[in-house]
Amino acid sequence: MGRTASTHASLKSRPFEPVNRPVHAPAREVVEDQLWYLDAHPTHSNDCATDRLLAAVLLSAKIRPFPVVARQVLSLLGDEDYRTADLEGVILKDPALSATFLRIANSALYRSLVPCESVLMACARLGRNAVREIVVGVVTMEMFRDIKSRGATIRDHCAGTAAIARTMADEWGLRSGDQLFLLGILHDLGKLLGIQCGIESYDGLPPSSLDTPDRLHLLERDRLGYDHAVLGAHVLHAWKLPEPIAQIVAWHHQPERAYAGGGVVGMQVALLRLADRLEYRLRHDSAPSEVVIDELSTSPDARHVGISAADLRSTWQPMVDAREEVLALFRR
Ligand SMILES: [Fe+2]
Ligand SMILES: [Fe+2]
Repeated sequence: MGRTASTHASLKSRPFEPVNRPVHAPAREVVEDQLWYLDAHPTHSNDCATDRLLAAVLLSAKIRPFPVVARQVLSLLGDEDYRTADLEGVILKDPALSATFLRIANSALYRSLVPCESVLMACARLGRNAVREIVVGVVTMEMFRDIKSRGATIRDHCAGTAAIARTMADEWGLRSGDQLFLLGILHDLGKLLGIQCGIESYDGLPPSSLDTPDRLHLLERDRLGYDHAVLGAHVLHAWKLPEPIAQIVAWHHQPERAYAGGGVVGMQVALLRLADRLEYRLRHDSAPSEVVIDELSTSPDARHVGISAADLRSTWQPMVDAREEVLALFRR
């Protein structure tokens, strides 16, 4: 592949156009430039790293294919004139999905004055984007239900990040906050796939690397030549999730790139990163901390979104509550 800085410079100005190649297409053709890095890793050639990534994507697609029910929901919602009753019919075919879908629809994250008593009512009230993010989010979490120990902690981290990110967007009235619940659930998908497919066990790493934001992806790049963000993004692309979901997942550890591009991608990467950092903190201590609030509110992520220490202070408790509610919901 031999990507060079000049190749990437020319690609940067080009809008990302998803290529619907099957996941079994010739290996190097499947690596998407916008879901890869701008610079080569110092100790891995791009050729070696992309070959390894593609092997991981193929393995993930084989061992963990995207569930049929989620594919059917995405396909239905892709039609401008979808019928709510058809959507209900697909969701009801999966009793576990139906139950969790309704619980989330009635959680603090999506609740309105009138509770949803049926899947049909929830589909009608929530609308296309919310139905899509809840269904895909629930189905994805279900794929990793049997995962244990370190994997279970990562699964909880994804659920917690989803709840925090959605609450931030909601409380701060951000129009660019759409799909943040789903982005939270999917952002570390690559870690879960890595564990379940036997690609990376995370054994032998310093414990702090698994309990601190922005550390693990650097170790992964040293060990594998790519990281969980890029792996997850390529699998999401193969699953045909609507853009820019895969791009945001790919860039959640490349924030400078996302912020330089700006727009919805930059905003959502910033919110996702804030939620990610908060989740690592809240798992140990949910009490408001001025040190943490100061650290977060002066970060490039907060500056990019334009949120202040006062914003974080006023949203702290709703974020704690939402995180606990969603964790309990996915642990049932
Ligand atoms: Fe990550
Ligand atoms: Fe994370």
